[in-house]
Amino acid sequence: MHILFLGDIVGKPGRRAVAALLPNLRQELAVDLVIANTENTAHGKGLTASTWTELRQAGVDIGTGGNHTFSKPEATTIYGQATEPLVRPLNLPGAPGQGEKTFQVGQKSVTVVNLLGQFGMNLPDVENPFVTIQRWWREHRPADVIVVDMHAEATSEKINLGWYLDGKVTAVIGTHTHVATVDARLLPNGTGYITDVGMVGLRDSSLGVDKDLALQRFLTGQKASNDIPETGLVGFNAVLFESTAPGRCTTFERIYREYIVT
Ligand SMILES: [Fe+2]
Ligand SMILES: [Fe+2]
Repeated sequence: MHILFLGDIVGKPGRRAVAALLPNLRQELAVDLVIANTENTAHGKGLTASTWTELRQAGVDIGTGGNHTFSKPEATTIYGQATEPLVRPLNLPGAPGQGEKTFQVGQKSVTVVNLLGQFGMNLPDVENPFVTIQRWWREHRPADVIVVDMHAEATSEKINLGWYLDGKVTAVIGTHTHVATVDARLLPNGTGYITDVGMVGLRDSSLGVDKDLALQRFLTGQKASNDIPETGLVGFNAVLFESTAPGRCTTFERIYREYIVT
């Protein structure tokens, strides 16, 4: 089974790049399942019904979340619908929706788990992701494929989760920083790993938002509003991996494309 995982999709340029590129990529790469991090889909923060519909129509099968998932109030309603193929962080136990879900894809069962790191998140209720996944592992029967989206700022939290889950899950995929790392690899026991996939967002930006406004925050110490330019070159960052045995990857590689939004 070939799975394509898209990093944080940022705002309208990100959504437009997904709509333009994903249908052809699904064919070109013989993709069976597309998972995408959706926490920045609606103007950089959160998820709305219309933006989620856009992604679904573009070919995203399952969405994961992060620290911004519930920034727009309507995400609470969307996540409250159990049939939506969406997961939010498992270690935010009070949040609406579920932190893990299992889907049937052809003959295979695919479980998607979402975790939040604790460093730098400024959220009060984030449980220790290592303890959360340890408990989850004891209580759940493994699926044919298990994909973990580790949404975290600290590289140490991500790589240590990768080592902890090596050989137990199919892939541990880092999201949140919006900056892709070059360490996509198979760990010794067969788990695919990358510290951060990167984003699907404007390349000449500050993590997807207007870089001049973001710079003002650093120059003046004043909180400037985040804005997302309408046009520009979008960097499309993803990973593609193949699972042929339960809990193991046989290939795990970065995919990068560009799309100019005019
Ligand atoms: Fe993000
Ligand atoms: Fe995030």
